[in-house]
Amino acid sequence: VISEAAEALSVDAYVIGGFVRDHILERGEPKDIDIVAIGSGIELAKKVSELLPDKPKVQVFKNFGTAMLRSEDHEIEFVGARMESYRSDSRKPIVEDGSLEDDQNRRDFTINALALKLNKDGFGDLLDPFNGYDDLKQRIIRTPLDPDITYSDDPLRMYRAIRFASQLNFMIEAESLKAIKRNKDRIKIISKERILDELNKILLSDKPSKGLALLFKTGLLKKILPELTALQGIDEKDGQKHKDNFWHTLEVVDNISENTNDLWLRWAALLHDIGKAPTKKFHKKIGWTFHGHEFVGAKMVFKLFKRLRLPLNDKMKFVQKMVLLSSRPIAIVDDNVTDSAVRRLVFDAGDHIEDLMILCEADITTKNPKRFKKYHS
Ligand code: CTP
Repeated sequence: VISEAAEALSVDAYVIGGFVRDHILERGEPKDIDIVAIGSGIELAKKVSELLPDKPKVQVFKNFGTAMLRSEDHEIEFVGARMESYRSDSRKPIVEDGSLEDDQNRRDFTINALALKLNKDGFGDLLDPFNGYDDLKQRIIRTPLDPDITYSDDPLRMYRAIRFASQLNFMIEAESLKAIKRNKDRIKIISKERILDELNKILLSDKPSKGLALLFKTGLLKKILPELTALQGIDEKDGQKHKDNFWHTLEVVDNISENTNDLWLRWAALLHDIGKAPTKKFHKKIGWTFHGHEFVGAKMVFKLFKRLRLPLNDKMKFVQKMVLLSSRPIAIVDDNVTDSAVRRLVFDAGDHIEDLMILCEADITTKNPKRFKKYHS
C-alpha cells in the first residue's frame, strides 16, 4: 500500500531504521515501521490512509514534519528526508529538507541507517552507504559519522549503543567505545525518563551483564546509579577479603534473567546488595560484615526510585520487599534451618514467595549451588 501511495504521489519512499535491521536479523515482525519520503512525509501518510480499507486516522505532528498512523498491529511513522544539525546544549536538532543520503547520515548507527526502496522501480533495493549490512552480519555497532560527533550531538545514543550491544549481543566498535568514554559527561542534557527507557531495555535483554558492564566501563553507570558502582572493589584487611559485590550483582542479574522476564524482579536482583557499600565494616574477630544491609538497602531503593523517577508504587514496594528479604534465606541456611525461621520468611514474603525463590536461587547459586539445594528443600 505504501508503495502504491508513493507511486500515486510520484515520490520516492523507503522503509528505514529498526524495521530493516530487525528484518535482516530475523528478529520477528517489528511493530514500528519508519518510512522516509523524498518529499512530504505527511502527504504520503494521508495517501496511505486513503488507500487502506479501514482509512486509519493520520496523526500529524506539524512542528516535526512527521505523521503517524496505526494499521493492524503496526505503528507507521512517516517523515520527509531531512538533514539535521545540533547546538551544544540540546539534543533537539535544527532540521532542513534533504536527500535520502542526508537522512541516512543523521542516523545513529550504520545498522540503523539501512533503507529499502518501496517504489515499483527498484522495489526492495537495499540502500546502504555505510556498509551497515556487513556490520549486521559481523555484529558490530558503528556510527555513520565520526563517533564524537554522533554522541555529542545526541548523547542518548551512547546509551542506545550499549542497549543495542546488550539486546542484540553485538560488539561496540573500538573507536566508538572510546568516544563514549570521552563524551560521557554530555549525558547530563538527556532526561532521566529517556535514560531509564534504555536502562530498562538493557535489564530486559537476555544477558543484562553485557550492557551493565559496558555502562560501568564507560563511566555512564556511575552517573545514574552511583550506589551500585560503589559496590565495586575488594578490600583486604588482616589477610581477609570480601567478594566484589558489584560483579557478583551482575552475575545474579544474569542468573535471574534465565528464570524470569519480569522487569521488577530483575531490578530487585540489581539492587539486592545495594546496602552493602554503606554498611561495610571490618571486625577483628569476625572479619568483613555488612550487618543490617537489607534494611539500609530497602531505604536506598526508595530514594533511588524517587531520584530516577521510577514508579513509586507497588513495583517499588515489591523491589524493596525483595531487597529486604533476599538475604534471609541465606542466613537461615547458615544458621541451620529452623521451622519457625522458615515459617516467618514465608509469612513475610506473602504472595511473593515464588519470586523470592527465583531471586534467592539466582543469588545463592552464584556463591554455592549446594547451599541452594539445602535451602530449597
Ligand atoms: N534514531 C537515531 N537516533 C536516535 C534515535 C533514533 O538516529 N537517538 C534513528 C535510527 O535510525 C533508528 C530510528 O531512528 O533506527 C528509529 O528509532 P527508534 O524507533 O527509537 O529505534 P529502533 O531502531 O526502531 O529500535 P527499537 O524499536 O528497538 O527502539
